[in-house]
Amino acid sequence: MLKNKILKKFTLPLVFGIILTGTISAVASANDYKSIITHRQGIYDVMAGHMKVLKSILFMGNDNISSVNYHAKSILEAAKHHGKAFPKGSDKGKTAALPAIWEKPDEFKAAGQKLGKALQNFIAVSEMAEKDDLKELQGAFKKVGGACKSCHEKFREDD
Ligand code: HEC
Repeated sequence: MLKNKILKKFTLPLVFGIILTGTISAVASANDYKSIITHRQGIYDVMAGHMKVLKSILFMGNDNISSVNYHAKSILEAAKHHGKAFPKGSDKGKTAALPAIWEKPDEFKAAGQKLGKALQNFIAVSEMAEKDDLKELQGAFKKVGGACKSCHEKFREDD
């Protein structure tokens, strides 16, 4: 059973969380903020690109189900390369990052960990899924999307 295999995978230690939000305590010089903001936005864009491709496969009938695992893993890889994405002071400039990130660092970190867990589950499902497991894949994808959204609602300015 796919579900049992996934549960087994879940007993592996969780290693994500901090990597998804980077450390928010490091302090950078004013000149660094521009590069930091551009970098973190670029990483989010990469993640969003994979989400878009996944949507085409899982909900629009694009026949690339064998690529789902690649895209799932790539979102996590991108997140790992966030680095020190939110140093204090990087709320200035062309950014949609809300002050809540620095006011409620624990909540922000938890929002990153939520995404980490959802991605770990999605990767596990996609490693074992066959074509007829589309529903499982869709469910796991939605959890990832939900984790993106719930962080944005609290910590990102509306467009
Ligand atoms: C822990 C919180 C958090 C999580 C989880 C999160 N985001 Fe974001 N995201 C942000 C913040 C904060 C910004 C604003 C960054 C800025 O403008 O400096 C942002 C910005 C973005 C942007 C706009 C980038 C740009 O070019 O301005 C996109 C697209 C995006 N996120 C997609 C995603 C996707 C897709 C996921 C899930 C796979 C995700 N995010 C998960 C907090 C999060």
